[in-house]
Amino acid sequence: MNLPDLNEARKRTSKEILIKTNDYIVKENLKDLGQGKKYYVKTYGCQMNVHDSENIKAILEDMSFEEVDNLEDADLILLNTCAIRENAHNKVFGFLGRVKHLKESKPHIICGICGCMAQEENVVKEIKNKYKWVDIVFGTHNIYNLPNILFDSMTKKEQEIEVFSIEGDVLENIPVKRDSKYKAWVNIMYGCDKFCTYCIVPYTRGKQRSRTPEYIINEVKDLVKEGYQEVTLLGQNVNAYGKDLGIDYKMGDLLRDVAKTGIPRIRFMTSHPWDFDDDMINAIKEYDNIMPYIHLPLQSGSDKILKLMGRRYTKEKYLDLYHKLKEIPDVAITTDIIVGFPGETEEDFNDTLDVVKECEYDSAFTFIFSPREGTPAAKMQDNISKEEKEERLYKLNELVNEFANKNNQKYLHKVVKVLIEGIGEKGNLFGYTDTMKLVNVDGSEDNIGKIVDVEITDIKTWSLDGKVVK
Ligand code: 5AD
Ligand code: SF4
Repeated sequence: MNLPDLNEARKRTSKEILIKTNDYIVKENLKDLGQGKKYYVKTYGCQMNVHDSENIKAILEDMSFEEVDNLEDADLILLNTCAIRENAHNKVFGFLGRVKHLKESKPHIICGICGCMAQEENVVKEIKNKYKWVDIVFGTHNIYNLPNILFDSMTKKEQEIEVFSIEGDVLENIPVKRDSKYKAWVNIMYGCDKFCTYCIVPYTRGKQRSRTPEYIINEVKDLVKEGYQEVTLLGQNVNAYGKDLGIDYKMGDLLRDVAKTGIPRIRFMTSHPWDFDDDMINAIKEYDNIMPYIHLPLQSGSDKILKLMGRRYTKEKYLDLYHKLKEIPDVAITTDIIVGFPGETEEDFNDTLDVVKECEYDSAFTFIFSPREGTPAAKMQDNISKEEKEERLYKLNELVNEFANKNNQKYLHKVVKVLIEGIGEKGNLFGYTDTMKLVNVDGSEDNIGKIVDVEITDIKTWSLDGKVVK
């Protein structure tokens, strides 16, 4: 048993980051462990987690488990969890109730918890004490060892907990079962060293460690050969890519090299304003296959709150960068904003509204501050009432929606490129523009998996309607 340890998770040392190419092994006797058994993976949280689930699925299939879409049909249920806010926690514990119920009638079901919540000391204590029926808990650094963790749990019939709270290495031989045939997630770095005072990620995901350019570029080249149309380069803070590699190679260099593979579309997320350098902006301008879409979290428009958040920029610096990015032709910019951070006054909140008014974002993810145990902000005095926070969120959302709609209006009757991903709920095609706008499209199914010209015929706040013109 290896339990998570918050103090260990906090540590950052000068330990060398190892690139490991042999850690994932499925022993001969485990290759059939899942024969005749079905698995169901439920994923919460960000794209990093979505991609981890793609790794987990491939590992399970290496052990002969078969995927099912229906929870009720599964012999193995894994919850890949998110720790970013309290409501992410609540959702997981709610879902666990359903699994417990199923397990009462089918005791052979194996239930596992992984992802960011598994890295939290208190969550794991609670699972160990109050959720003894949960069979396995494994952390974000332990995915490669899933075959052995599962085997131990199945043979010993006791709760297996394997969570390392380490800074972490880079593992290169983990298999992947991609959800899409057209767009792929590609990790370029793991972890985060920014330690914004509200955020749990530096504790759950470890030290910042970049993959080497060769591995990333080879992965993209393989995706091109397989016919993929789009890659999203993933990291908690992609702009800081390469800083830990000790070579003179940064995000701008990586973007150019990935662009040269010829993959039709490149996206990247998430950016932190601090590391967004001019070279990166130039790379985006130079290559048509680097999409003009940037997610640039603001978090707050008040210098006082930004300082308390440990964001390392001021409102002025953020706006300078924003205006530089706006020079990228037809760029769309989205953001993340937190309201109700401890100490946020009406005036601070108005500063945030002012930035939103100036930036006229294409869209924004908005959140009420949620204290995460172990982070510095959780100890700050929070004297804003729940009603006040909700009111601020409401006001902010009204403004965000106004600009989202205004930005979408610019698309009416224009012809834009859309990568058609599949058939939506209403029976029509759907896909995304270069600028990441969701479009519901009239057209034939032959267009699925292709980038096609679409004329925009109608505008909604959160999506566009259109028809294929070519
Ligand atoms: N409370 C509220 N929102 C948070 N985020 C991160 N941590 C917290 C927290 N403790 C938001 C930030 C981040 C996004 C992924 O989630 O806005 O950019
Ligand atoms: Fe992703 Fe962060 Fe949530 Fe973990 S806590 S799943 S890294 S958003």
